[in-house]
Amino acid sequence: MTTACCPGSFDPVTNGHLDVIERSCRLFDEVIVAVLENPSKRPLFTIEERMDMLREATSHLEPVKVSSFQGLVVEFCRQIGADAIVKGLRAVTDFDYEMQMAQMNARMGTETMFLAANPEYTYLSSSLMRDVVSLGGPIDGLVPDFVLKRLTAKLGK
Ligand code: PNS
Repeated sequence: MTTACCPGSFDPVTNGHLDVIERSCRLFDEVIVAVLENPSKRPLFTIEERMDMLREATSHLEPVKVSSFQGLVVEFCRQIGADAIVKGLRAVTDFDYEMQMAQMNARMGTETMFLAANPEYTYLSSSLMRDVVSLGGPIDGLVPDFVLKRLTAKLGK
């Protein structure tokens, strides 16, 4: 039984995240999507809202379970028995920070596997989606339709 941990803020989940989660399901028996609950950050969506959206968006993926965590991701991986952290790598701009975290996490006992982002989604990020919606721009096709509705309800003009 192999288990992947896909950690992130998911504020909100995008089609880029979902692409990485779906591809992880082809590589691992179980995929735990782990939403960071960081009391010092002020996310747009509450932890429950972020987890609800992820559950809805991954309901067709049998291996996926959605959880939340606080503190070190390696500690959470230890608790759930994850074999690896899986993350998407979008562009060179991600590289330095992701490399730093992967090396530190490896030192603390959990390896990271990177999936090259689908070229359709390399420019996507949750913060870009929030910005564009708050300025009245279109993001259909970049997040699930029900996520777009929730974003528009919170931020839309
Ligand atoms: O979606 P994000 O915000 O890019 O995800 C970042 C995340 C949650 C994966 C990263 O911040 C993280 O793993 N945080 C948990 C705290 C931790 O373990 N920090 C040390 C990493 S070396």
